[in-house]
Amino acid sequence: MNLAPRVRDAFQQKFGTAPTFIVRAPGRVNLIGEHTDYNDGFVLPMAIDRATWIALRPRKDDRVSLFSLEHGEAAEFDLATVAAVRNGGAAADRAYQARLQGNKWGEYPKGVAWALQQAGHKLRGWEGVTACDVPMGAGLSSSASFELAVARAFACVSDLKWDPAQMAKLGQLAENRWVGVNCGIMDQMISAAGKADHALLIDCRSLATQLVPLPTGTVVVVLDTMTRRGLVESAYNERRAQCEAAAKEFGVKALRDVSVKELTPQTNKRARHVVTENDRTLRAAETRDPVLFGALMNASHDSLRDDFEVTNKELNVIVDLARKASGCFGARMTGAGFGGCAVALVAASEADRFTAQVAREYEAATKLKPQVYVCRATNGAEVV
Ligand code: GLA
Repeated sequence: MNLAPRVRDAFQQKFGTAPTFIVRAPGRVNLIGEHTDYNDGFVLPMAIDRATWIALRPRKDDRVSLFSLEHGEAAEFDLATVAAVRNGGAAADRAYQARLQGNKWGEYPKGVAWALQQAGHKLRGWEGVTACDVPMGAGLSSSASFELAVARAFACVSDLKWDPAQMAKLGQLAENRWVGVNCGIMDQMISAAGKADHALLIDCRSLATQLVPLPTGTVVVVLDTMTRRGLVESAYNERRAQCEAAAKEFGVKALRDVSVKELTPQTNKRARHVVTENDRTLRAAETRDPVLFGALMNASHDSLRDDFEVTNKELNVIVDLARKASGCFGARMTGAGFGGCAVALVAASEADRFTAQVAREYEAATKLKPQVYVCRATNGAEVV
């Protein structure tokens, strides 16, 4: 949705004048390439038409003040205070995790300000209003979209060059070291570098990108199971450790360096998922055939369910229902897993019938009311 009018009006009301800049940075849905980014592998996400928006103006001092329309409160801090924290809040302060439970959202802008300053950027203060329509905790990267929107805001007021890959890395640094979540680079990279009407093939080792048009006549449908799992983080870290151990056994830097031909029946199943998923992702990026693309998505889900073991019952149910619906080329879970969303590639002509049918059947099967929506691919972080 276009939230520019909403943040512009709220800014006008709060500050009695029009904002100097309005920026937005999108959430994402990953089409294929799951749990490959932290293995130096390949991912194929697209930026979606749900985003974090900020209306802002520069300040003369080094204070940042950002009022959230969702939370009804402001995050305020001084740039110098944040810059003085060594190693990021998460590493520096054990009591920090406890504080995060209180006002977690306010830590994102601080973390981004910290990361930008760590990288040597000279920042100026600013004040503004933010709104977001990326559902939180659904696996559509609301955090990355917030980080990149804040980075874009700093870039505007501080005259920083907008280098998407560099900004993505600093967003990830904020998430890893300030917020304390050990994510890979995919979410920040697509929120920074997405392009309208395209998915983006990202090489997570070099950060080289390649635009990939969606197969003609298809749409991308996001299916939110409405399940949210608390233990995602520990399971995620456990999978990362298992992948690193497997890479060591193969004697390579990362599982990216293992090819499908090297797999044997004895290969551990976590490694088998990553190696085959990289191969599927590269094939999906190459093809313009929706049938092949969909088959690769299906194989990805099966591998995440059986080998990587990061699905839950509801994800498996919604994916099965989606695959059985007419017009569906393929469906899989998307994001970290354990709950959240699935994604389906669907014939554009069948989209309405598809969304209605899957929503109805999922609710009947689970008693949960899913959110189902067709997503458009949008640009990454930008000034509007
Ligand atoms: C989360 C992380 C990403 C990536 C996915 C799994 O979204 O933030 O870096 O690892 O899980 O593909």
